[in-house]
Amino acid sequence: MTDSALSLRGLTKDFGPFRAVDDVTLDIRRGSITGLIGPNGAGKTTLFNMVAGSLKPSSGTVSLGDVDITGRPPETLFSLGLARTFQIPRPFRRMSVVENLMLAPPAQIGETVPGALFRRRNVARQEHALRDKAQGILDFVTLSHLADQPAGMISGGQMKLLELGRALMGDPSVILLDEPAAGVNPTLTNILIERIRELNEGGVTFVVIEHDMDFVMRHCDPVIAMAAGRVMFQGTSEEARTNPELLDAYLGTAA
Ligand SMILES: Nc1ncnc2c1ncn2[C@@H]1O[C@H](COP(=O)(O)OP(=O)(O)OP(=O)(O)O)[C@@H](O)[C@H]1O
Ligand SMILES: [Mg+2]
Repeated sequence: MTDSALSLRGLTKDFGPFRAVDDVTLDIRRGSITGLIGPNGAGKTTLFNMVAGSLKPSSGTVSLGDVDITGRPPETLFSLGLARTFQIPRPFRRMSVVENLMLAPPAQIGETVPGALFRRRNVARQEHALRDKAQGILDFVTLSHLADQPAGMISGGQMKLLELGRALMGDPSVILLDEPAAGVNPTLTNILIERIRELNEGGVTFVVIEHDMDFVMRHCDPVIAMAAGRVMFQGTSEEARTNPELLDAYLGTAA
C-alpha cells in the first residue's frame, strides 16, 4: 500500500478556454489533516470536485490509495470511502436532520435477496440499522437534539456539522472539507475541530480548504497553497507561515 491516501497526477480542468485547474500533481499523506489554501478563484473547489467525482477532469488522474478512481461518480467514491462536504451546504431542507443522514449512503436495499417477503423484512431491518447509525452519528456531531427538525431550519453552523455527519455515513477513510469553518460561530467551530481531530486519531485522512489562516496554521499539516489553478507551495504549517512568496501572494491580500 502506498503512503498516500490520495494521489493526483497532472490534474487539469478547462471550462471552455479558461483553465481553472492546471496540471496539479499532489500526494495527500495518509493520516494527515492537510490544509488547502489559496485566494478566491484559485481552483480549490474545482480540484475537490474532480477528486470527489462531481466533475470529470479534462486530463490527469486521481488515485485513492492504489485504486485509480479518475472520473468515477460520487456515489461510487462514497462507497469506496471517499466523502466530501460542500462549501455551501445543501441539505434536503424539508426533510428532517436524521432523514438527511439516512439518505447519504448509496441505496443497497436487498436487491439480490430472492423472495418478496424476505426482501421486505430485510428492508425493514436495514432501515432500522440505518436509523441507528444516523442517530449515533448525530450524537457524535452534537445534533441529536435536532434529529426531527427540518434540515432547512437549523443554523448555518449546524448545517456544516450535518454535512460532516452525512460524510460519516459512508465510513470514509478520506474526507474532503470545503471551508468547514466559514460563517460558523466559534463554539460550533470548536466542536467541528474536536470531531475532526478525533476522527483523524482514528485514522481518517482529511483535506481541508479554509481561508481562516488561524484555523489552518493551528490544525493543518502539511499545508498546500494554490494560485491561478496551480500548486504554488507545499510544506509544513511553520514553513507556510514564513514563506515570503506565500505571504505575498495570499496572506498579504487576505490581510
Ligand atoms: N462550472 C464552471 N464553469 C466555468 N467556470 C468555473 C466553473 N466552476 C468554477 N469556475 C471558475 O474556476 C475558477 C476556480 O473556481 P473555484 O470555485 O475552484 O475556486 P476556489 O479556489 O474554490 O475559490 P473560493 O475560495 O472563492 O471558493 C474560478 O475562476 C471560477 O469562476
Ligand atoms: Mg471554493
